[in-house]
Order: sequence, then C-alpha cells, then structure tokens
Amino acid sequence: MLQLTGIHKQFAGIPVLRDVQLRLYPGEIHALMGQNGAGKSTLIKVLTGAIPPSGGQMRLAGSESAGEPISAWPESPLAAQRLGISTVYQEVNLCPNLSVAENIYAGRYPRKGLLQGRRIDWAAVNQRARELVARVGLDIDVTRLLSDYPVAVQQLVSIARALSIESRVLILDEPTSSLDDDEVRKLFDVLRRLRDEGLSIVFVTHFLNQVYAISDRITVLRNGSWVGEWPVADLPAPALIAAMLGRELAASSTQRQAEPAFDANQPALLEVEGLGQGGQLQPMDLRLRAGEVVGLAGLLGAGRTELARLLFGLELPDRGVLRVDGQVMAFSNPMDAIRQGLALCPEERKTDGIVADLSVRENIALALQARQGMGRFLSRAEQSALAQRYVELLGIKTASVETPIGLLSGGNQQKAILARWLATEPRLLILDEPTRGIDVAAKREIMDQILRLAQAGMAVLFISSEMSEVVRVAHRIVVLRDRHKVGELPAGSSEDAVYEMIAAG
Ligand SMILES: Nc1ncnc2c1ncn2[C@@H]1O[C@H](COP(=O)(O)OP(=O)(O)OP(=O)(O)O)[C@@H](O)[C@H]1O
Ligand SMILES: [Mg+2]
Repeated sequence: MLQLTGIHKQFAGIPVLRDVQLRLYPGEIHALMGQNGAGKSTLIKVLTGAIPPSGGQMRLAGSESAGEPISAWPESPLAAQRLGISTVYQEVNLCPNLSVAENIYAGRYPRKGLLQGRRIDWAAVNQRARELVARVGLDIDVTRLLSDYPVAVQQLVSIARALSIESRVLILDEPTSSLDDDEVRKLFDVLRRLRDEGLSIVFVTHFLNQVYAISDRITVLRNGSWVGEWPVADLPAPALIAAMLGRELAASSTQRQAEPAFDANQPALLEVEGLGQGGQLQPMDLRLRAGEVVGLAGLLGAGRTELARLLFGLELPDRGVLRVDGQVMAFSNPMDAIRQGLALCPEERKTDGIVADLSVRENIALALQARQGMGRFLSRAEQSALAQRYVELLGIKTASVETPIGLLSGGNQQKAILARWLATEPRLLILDEPTRGIDVAAKREIMDQILRLAQAGMAVLFISSEMSEVVRVAHRIVVLRDRHKVGELPAGSSEDAVYEMIAAG
C-alpha cells in the first residue's frame, strides 16, 4: 500500500531520523515502536505532510506511477489526505465547543447553492457525519456538542474525522492513552473491522500488551534509526524491548520497603475524614504517613482525579475535614497546598501541564518559583542547575535545557512535568497517571525513583490505570468505584484482588 525509504529528517542540523523505512500492506495493523524520543511522531508527521522530510522517498499503490516514488511529497496533512493518508495525532485537537458533525468537517464543509462554495450544506454535513460515526461503531447525536461526550467517544470522533476522506492508510499516534480497558477493546473492534475492509493502519503505543492484542507486524525505531521489521509472532515481548532499547531491560533496582510503622501519638502527614464534594466525590476517609506510598485504584471516572484535585485545593470540598500534621486546613487554592509541602503532577500534560513556548528550564523551575514566592527569585543559573539535575535524573531527552518544551517528544514532556513537581521537594506527592505515554524503560526508572523518594520520607499518592504498577509500588491500595471509596487492600495484593473489590463494589 505504501512504502517509505531512506527517510531523513533534521531539525536545525540535528538529525532526528536517519535512513528510516516503513512498509505497509493493505489490510494490516502495523505497530510503530520505540522509546520516548525515538522519532515515531516525527516519522508520522513526515508521512502525513505535517512537516517536510530532509530526504527520502514515498511509493504508493494505485498512484499514477505505481512502483515509482511519487514526484511531489505531500505538502500538508490535507494533501496527504487526498492521497488517502489520514492521521489521528498524539495530541488530540478537537474543539469541545463545536458539535460532533462540525468537528468532523471543520475546515472542509460540503457546500451548496447558486453561489457554490459560499453556503455550507448543513443537512449534508450532519448526514455524512452520521454515516461516519456509525462506521466507527458510535450511535450518538452528531448535532450535540463534542464536550457532551466522554473522552473515549471523542477519541472515536477523531478517527471518524480521519476517515472522512477516502482513506487507505490510517495512522494513530497513542490513541489509547486515555481510554480504559473496555474502551480500548471497543476501539480495537473498530480497528479490526477497518483492517478487514482493506485499510493499512499504523498504531503507536507504549502498552506492549496492546501491541500483541492487535498488530500484525512491528517496525522498531531506536534513536532515529530503523532497527527492523517483524511479523508479530517472530518478535516476543523481551525481543521487542531489546530491539527498542538496544539492550535487555535491567532488573528493577529498588524494592518496596516495609510499611512505615504507625505511631499512634504522631499525627499522620495528611488525614481526611468524610471529605467529599457534591456529586463529584462521596465522603471518604484517607490517611497518608511520611514514607508511605498509597495506590489509588479504580476505573476511569471512579473519582480518582477528583480526590486528587480536592486534596490539592483545585476543588473545594463541601464537607469533611482535612488535616496536615494534625492541623485542620482549608485550602482555598493550590498555593495553600504547595505551602504545606503538597505537589500534584496532573494527568493532562497538555492542558494542565506544559507551557509549550517556555524552555525546559523554565517549565521545570515553575512550581518551585511559585512556592518561593515573588520575594525570592531563582536566578537563571539556579534554574539551569536545577533543570540540568532533573534532566539527568529522569533521562529527559532534550538538546539542552534552553529548548522550548513543546519541541520535546510527548513522553519527554511528561517527564519534565514530573521534574517540575519533584523540584519542589514535596512532603506529599500526588501523581495522577505519571507514566502515561512513557516508554517501558523510563516507566521502570520512574517507579524506582518514586520508591526511592518514599524511602527518604516522602509520602506518595499514586494514581494509575495500570493495575500492575499500582500493586507493585503501593504499601496500601485504596479502591474507588463510582465516586466513593469501597475499601483498602494491603501491600502484596494481586491485581485480581483489586479488580474483585472494584467489581464487588
Ligand atoms: N520541531 C522540532 N524541533 C527540534 N527537535 C524536535 C522537533 N520535533 C521533534 N524533535 C525532536 O525529535 C526527537 C524525536 O521526537 P518524536 O516526537 O518523534 O519522538 P517519539 O518517538 O514520538 O517519542 P514519544 O514516545 O515520547 O512520543 C526528539 O528528541 C524531539 O525532541
Ligand atoms: Mg510521540
């Protein structure tokens, strides 16, 4: 269907892709794999005309010069779409305040009328949008606002948008990072159907189990270079990891320590009783001691993020008490929480996290500067030293600390946000999906880092949809369901035990 050969890409003279190739057959799902910063998103942007390559060729089945490289590289995503190449990018960019149909057709509405090209044919827009959402298995009202629907539906709408031009190649860059297991299964059903209709699908993910659940073949990139291409059956997970890393995955260096002893005379670092807010969170109790990692488990929408936001002063509770070191607190905003030594690393890096135009240094220094207040500015040298330290500690891949953070790969932006909050040296760190979009090796390092910080006395509230991570690091697991706490489980509980508690409710 499509073949890329000899693809090169440089940014300001620095090579990001070197002699990369990609072959797609009709009716296959092809996983594009590699560590954070390996060049996956860049290859996709080149392929879809979002950025021009520095060199290389594309061959397309069915084009006028079949077998020969196409003469003109697509100049824009729209031009690529005319060739049948459609994309859902890593960062979804739909408009929540437009209708579903408007989102699908924004920028390319069907027109009608005497003054052809002037009037939008709304009946046609809505009718075709209905057909497209049906094709991705959705049964929704396309005239309603996109924001009326959950993230999983929005994700499928962005696929419907990609399909709205006669597509032959569909590219999905980390489409599942904000979906729960059930929604992933539904998405995969849609992808399998599209594959069976003959589409070539390229799929990027950091969830290895998903690669094996759905792909037919795998291409691996490492450090901007092509490593190889395999049928999925020929590349079991350990071999895939070795291909991505260029080495075996090192065994975890840190072990979870015994739960810190509870001294009845000492107040907990953080304690809430009957804390709740309207329909967002039913009143619940929670206690966190210094040195303790508490996992927060539950399905999407269980109330995990809501609890994190309440603890951090981003939302105000309407009942219950919150104590820090035994003192009753009423946080009216995050600054109050930060002053007490709390930190929250949010799940939505794009909307709640990065400031794209600021440098890596400024993004990392941001929270510490806010905590110190206006009276005590961090000098540029102090900021640089701080940023440099965390770039090394977390292995953030960036040309320098002065690079605008928006130019980093998705996973490396995520690491920089984590660095921002670690830099405040919090007593209690709340991590909401800290490893989303982060590659296998970096995940392992970040989990080890969390355990090391806990051993040094930090309390951690760890929220993750990946149950295997929660059971591995937590001293105690608090289980939420439907916006209330259903119970707690001790360290060493199995993933199944957590799922059983969720199911039992
Ligand atoms: N516009 C740009 N200018 C400079 N460097 C860039 C630009 N875009 C990407 N890069 C660099 O290219 C490299 C590859 O980035 P890319 O986004 O392709 O990685 P990725 O494989 O998609 O990683 P992730 O898994 O984290 O999403 C990174 O080191 C990134 O910083
Ligand atoms: Mg990427």
